Amino acid sequence: MSSVKIVDGVFWVGAVDWNVRSFHGHTYNTKRGSTYNAYLIMDDKVTLVDSVYAPFAKEMIENIRQIVDPAKIDYIIANHVETDHSGGIPEIIKLCSKAKVYGTAKCKEGLQRMYYQNLDFQVVKTGEKLSLGKKTLTFIEAPMIHWPDSMFTYLIEDAVLMPNDAFGQHYASSERFDDEVDQCSLMQEASKYYSNILWPLNSIIQRKLNEVMAMNLPIKIIAPSHGIIWRKDPMKIVNAYVNWSKGEARGGAVIVYETMWGATATMAKKIAEGIADAGVDVKIYEVTQADMTQITDDMFYAKGYLIGSSTHDNNMLPGIAGFLH
Ligand code: FEO
Repeated sequence: MSSVKIVDGVFWVGAVDWNVRSFHGHTYNTKRGSTYNAYLIMDDKVTLVDSVYAPFAKEMIENIRQIVDPAKIDYIIANHVETDHSGGIPEIIKLCSKAKVYGTAKCKEGLQRMYYQNLDFQVVKTGEKLSLGKKTLTFIEAPMIHWPDSMFTYLIEDAVLMPNDAFGQHYASSERFDDEVDQCSLMQEASKYYSNILWPLNSIIQRKLNEVMAMNLPIKIIAPSHGIIWRKDPMKIVNAYVNWSKGEARGGAVIVYETMWGATATMAKKIAEGIADAGVDVKIYEVTQADMTQITDDMFYAKGYLIGSSTHDNNMLPGIAGFLH
């Protein structure tokens, strides 16, 4: 997909991965694909915020070329060292070898280990500012949302928050903005992303949300590193994160089982009938046939779980064991 203007002087220059179907080592099924979002800021100092997964570096560079010669890039902001966002840095830096890289101390450690020992790297901390000319960036460290190195970048004059993985979705689309896509699909993918990646980090996320809200930053656009950009109603996803991070269940039950010869399946179905007869919503999954990413998302909203397995060598079957892990 070609580059897209986000606001005056700020462009999406990332890549759409239509075909990816598993993420994070098969822990996350990406049925709708994903995107790797990188952003180019044109000012006195030309700045690239994040990059893409390495196989997509050429696409990112082509998108940058539509706007500026990549050799003119002065700054690269590395919000996160994980390879889906840093993998394109070695390729782009070949074209702009004088560019300085900005990120957290942990990001510096990671990039040095993964790619370079002698990177021109400036460590930044929360509240530090970087003037690009007419536009100014400021940084918010966000450790464990979702890696120790994670950081948000905020473009002050345009009120654009670039929070990297936070507020993202694994959602490939020819469209870039929330007002251009189906709202139901968008929120389904945002929810799945939260429940499968961020759910264990609820308390850290609550603290970070409170910290960012206390900064009173106006936010017109949230431009995450995966999926759709929130411009119509950026507070929709912020409010969703506030609610999700409280861990408040809606209700219902989820039954997940694995069966050897059908007896555990019979029990699971009978239990589900009983729950349904009591007027409680219930979902039932045979773990080896089901989408574990969807099960996790359903469990995120449920008030009760029932897990069943036939026994084998005095232990549970491997499918359910893997799921519980
Ligand atoms: Fe933590 Fe999208 O990488």
